[in-house]
Amino acid sequence: MRKKILLLGSGELGKELVIALQRLGQYVIAVDSYENAPAMQVSHEFEVINMLDGDALDRVINKHNPDIIVPEVESIRTEHFYKYEKQGYKVIPSAKAANFTMNRKAIRDLASIDLSIRTAKYKYADSLEQLKKGVGYCGFPCVVKPLMSSSGKGQSVIKSIDDIEKAWDYALQGSRGDLMEVIVEEFISFEYEITLLTLTQNNDVTLFCPSIGHRQERGDYQESWQPIHMKDTFLKEAQDMAHKVTHSLGGSGIWGVEFFIAKDGVYFSELSPRPHDTGMVTLANTQNFNQFELHARAILGIPVEQIILLKNGASAVVLAKDEKNDFPIFTGLEKAASIENSDFKIFGKPSTRPYRRMAVALAYGDDSVKKLVEKAKDVASHINIV
Ligand SMILES: Nc1ncnc2c1ncn2[C@@H]1O[C@H](COP(=O)(O)OP(=O)(O)OP(=O)(O)O)[C@@H](O)[C@H]1O
Ligand SMILES: [Mg+2]
Repeated sequence: MRKKILLLGSGELGKELVIALQRLGQYVIAVDSYENAPAMQVSHEFEVINMLDGDALDRVINKHNPDIIVPEVESIRTEHFYKYEKQGYKVIPSAKAANFTMNRKAIRDLASIDLSIRTAKYKYADSLEQLKKGVGYCGFPCVVKPLMSSSGKGQSVIKSIDDIEKAWDYALQGSRGDLMEVIVEEFISFEYEITLLTLTQNNDVTLFCPSIGHRQERGDYQESWQPIHMKDTFLKEAQDMAHKVTHSLGGSGIWGVEFFIAKDGVYFSELSPRPHDTGMVTLANTQNFNQFELHARAILGIPVEQIILLKNGASAVVLAKDEKNDFPIFTGLEKAASIENSDFKIFGKPSTRPYRRMAVALAYGDDSVKKLVEKAKDVASHINIV
C-alpha cells in the first residue's frame, strides 16, 4: 500500500504525522503558506499557497490528484472539501468534520442542540447591542470569542459591564476572515480541563487514549500531562460525549476532544478533527502508539487493537522571545539532555516571533505527573533560542 497524501498545514503536528506516515511507507506532499515549514522538511514534495484561497487549493488538488487529503490546521477553505469528497477524494476525517470545527457556531450548535451535549451556556452576537444581551443571558464573568479563530486569538473574559465594548473590539480584531460575529459563553470555573484523544476507525471500533491534562496561557497550552486521574463517572461521560460528536461528524482519525471538568460535572468545549497540541505529550512514548501514529493508521485503515498507557508523561513548550527571520540556533541542549528520563523535539521552524512555539520538552517515567511537569519545565528552561 502506497498512498499519495496531501497534507494541508505543515507545522510541528504535521511534521510528526508525516514522520509516522513515512514509517508506513507513504508518499506525502506538504502544503502551507510559507517555505521551509516543519512538515515540508520531511515530505517528498511541498507546495506554498494561501490555503484560504479556494482557487489555489483547487489547483494543488488537481495538480497532485492525491488519494487522501489530510487537513492539519483550521484555516483552510474547508467548504471546498465537500466538493472534493463528491469528486472521490478521501478527506480526513471527513469534509463535515473539517468544515464544522473551523466555525465555533457550527460545532457548538451540533453538540448542544442536535446532540444535547452539555456545554457552557452561550449566545451569538453580530453587534455590540447583541453582545450586551448575550452577556445579560450568560452572566458575569463570561468569555467572548470570535466565531473563527484559534489559539485564543480575540478571546477575552468579561468581568463587568465596562469590559463589554473592549471585548467586542478585541474579538473582531482577532477574527479570521471578515466574519463579524462572536460567541459569548458562561465562564466555567473548572477544576481542571482535559483533552480526550479519541480514535475513530473504519472498522467502527472507537478507542480512547488515557485523558490528558493541560494548562493554558494566552490561549496556548504551556504544559500537558498524561494520564490525569478523574472520577470514573466523569470519564465515562466525557467518552460518551466524544463518541457522539465524532460519530456525528464522521470518518476515521484521531480527534482532540476538549472538556472542562467542574465540581458539577463535565462540559464539552470544542474539538480538533486531527492531532491536538496537548497530545504532544504522547511523543514521550507514554502509549504503545503516539497520537500521530494513531492518526496515520486510522488514515490508512490499519486497525489499532488497543491503546495502552506504558508510562506517565509530561510536556512543556519552548517559546521564542523575539522576532527573527532566520533559522534560530538552539543552545543549552547538553544541559537539557543531562536530565534523566527526558527528551526534547525541535520543530525546525524557519523564523521566530514572540511566544511562537519552537520546541517541546518531554519527561516520562513512574514519577507522579506533577513531578514530571516540573521536570519537563526544567528541561525546557535550559533550552535557549538565539
Ligand atoms: N467558557 C469558558 N470558561 C472557562 N474557561 C474557558 C472557557 N472558554 C475557554 N476557556 C479557556 O480558554 C482556553 C481556550 O479556549 P478555546 O479552546 O475555546 O479556544 P481556542 O482559541 O480554540 O483554543 P485552541 O485552538 O488553542 O484550542 C480553554 O482551553 C480554557 O482554558
Ligand atoms: Mg481549545
